[in-house]
Amino acid sequence: MDQKGKIIIPEKEIRKRVEELAEQISRDYEGLNPIIITVLRGAVYFMVDLTRHLTIPHRIDFLAIASYGPATQTGVVRITKDLDLDIHNEHVLILEDIVDTGLTLHYLLRILKERGPASIKICAFLDRAAQRIANLNIDYKGFEIGEDFVVGYGLDREEKYRNLPYIMAVND
Ligand code: IMP
Ligand code: MG
Repeated sequence: MDQKGKIIIPEKEIRKRVEELAEQISRDYEGLNPIIITVLRGAVYFMVDLTRHLTIPHRIDFLAIASYGPATQTGVVRITKDLDLDIHNEHVLILEDIVDTGLTLHYLLRILKERGPASIKICAFLDRAAQRIANLNIDYKGFEIGEDFVVGYGLDREEKYRNLPYIMAVND
């Protein structure tokens, strides 16, 4: 890993924040048996750390999406790997690595709401609010970040650098 860049969120801070989020989610979902949905692939690292600290019963499931053309232009996504669990009448929490324009999640929410979940909320590890186009409420967020493109902790650049334990800004 010889990628040059600036570490903007160190490993220790990530660990602390993820534990805080897990505590909050454990409180809010007490007795609700939520289904934690992870959007592949970036949010996998976040999911593993977060669920390890949940103190409530929950199930996990995964889905993968692809956009028709650049998501940033249309926001139209297609599910390429669907959930295995039925979310009808279930409390659903979606985990994302980063919400940028919000178009991808906005569209995904529309698809999942049609399945009649009891509730559906969003937990994003990173929030780049300045780029938001879609009107989207993020219920839980790890960190807010600025314009820099970032890698690490699941986030990639051309499928690389996901395994870095910190968030690094790369602007070259
Ligand atoms: P949007 O919210 O629809 O614009 O798209 C969010 C998706 O774009 C995320 O799930 C990431 O896959 C990707 N993405 C956006 N910003 C970054 C970044 O800084 N690093 C890596 N991936 C990013
Ligand atoms: Mg992603």
